[in-house]
Amino acid sequence: MKKMLQDLREVAVHAILGAADPQALEALRIQYLGKKGDLTKLLKMMGKLDPSERPAMGQLANQVRAEVENALAQRKDELSAMLLERRLTSEAVDVTIPGKPTQIGHEHPMYVVLDEIKDIFIGMGFEILEGPEVELSEYNFTKLNTDEGHPAREWSDTFYLTEDSSILLRTQTSPMQIRAMEEKELPIRMLAPGRVYRKDEVDATHSPMFHQIEGMVIDKGVTMADLKGTLDAVMKKLYGEDTVTRFRPHHFPFTEPSCEMDVQCHKCGGKGCPTCKGEGWIEILGAGMVHPKVLEGCGIDTNVYSGWAFGMGLERLAMRRFKISDLRLIFENDVRFLEQF
Ligand code: PHE
Repeated sequence: MKKMLQDLREVAVHAILGAADPQALEALRIQYLGKKGDLTKLLKMMGKLDPSERPAMGQLANQVRAEVENALAQRKDELSAMLLERRLTSEAVDVTIPGKPTQIGHEHPMYVVLDEIKDIFIGMGFEILEGPEVELSEYNFTKLNTDEGHPAREWSDTFYLTEDSSILLRTQTSPMQIRAMEEKELPIRMLAPGRVYRKDEVDATHSPMFHQIEGMVIDKGVTMADLKGTLDAVMKKLYGEDTVTRFRPHHFPFTEPSCEMDVQCHKCGGKGCPTCKGEGWIEILGAGMVHPKVLEGCGIDTNVYSGWAFGMGLERLAMRRFKISDLRLIFENDVRFLEQF
């Protein structure tokens, strides 16, 4: 009996300390300490021993059980430490491997041009304003001397948001003239870029959404000469010192007199070519002296103050600047296109 217990101890401890994984370890536990395990079997044989031998054998058997249990606990700790170690090495992040570059997109060519224009005007003391794209007809039309019945207010051209046509998507940035005059102290020098909306079919030169930049100056003694001088200087900054501009008479309900400004075609120098469609000039903006009715409607004394305003299409400027031939490219935002600028 003594020999059997000692052998069992030796074999069991050896096997347990060599168990390869937790499953093998559990199998060994069952083999030795389980209900039908080897040690349990030996203990059952105790009854057949001479009573004088029992205390010593009982003590030895308890000792063997304790040693087997210790070996199991020890191996369990070793195995879990090994497993952890293995996981740490297999899941380790090698911080020295070069990273994959992420695509971060590209600045939009239209915003490149917008930023340049903002810079030029800020340099001349203008402030940049932002206003709502969902606008009151009152501001988009009425206060801009464009009364009910005016063709510009047709449902076929404008996205109205209410049946009574009192709210719409602004068709121009000009309502920002009114908002500035109502909210700001005089004198005013402001630039207001933003989105505008018109019911146009999409093609190479049209889109139901596009961008305008509104500009306005209200001060004492402001004249048409200031308008021409300022806009000519801006175009020279934007397109180069040898840029030639011209002003043609035009009509807008909210300016008097009104004009359009053209820039001489940079490609042909005014002779006429495909870029300027044979005209020699490219139309850039609409402008004029703010109509006295508009000024008075905003509570401005026309005996003391006068002003000028302009509105230009931003897409058109960007297309001219970067020789982009189709307006749709501007809105598709394909990175392969944007990355060229
Ligand atoms: N809002 C006019 C347009 O969209 C442009 C304009 C602005 C004309 C300011 C005169 C003064 O055509």
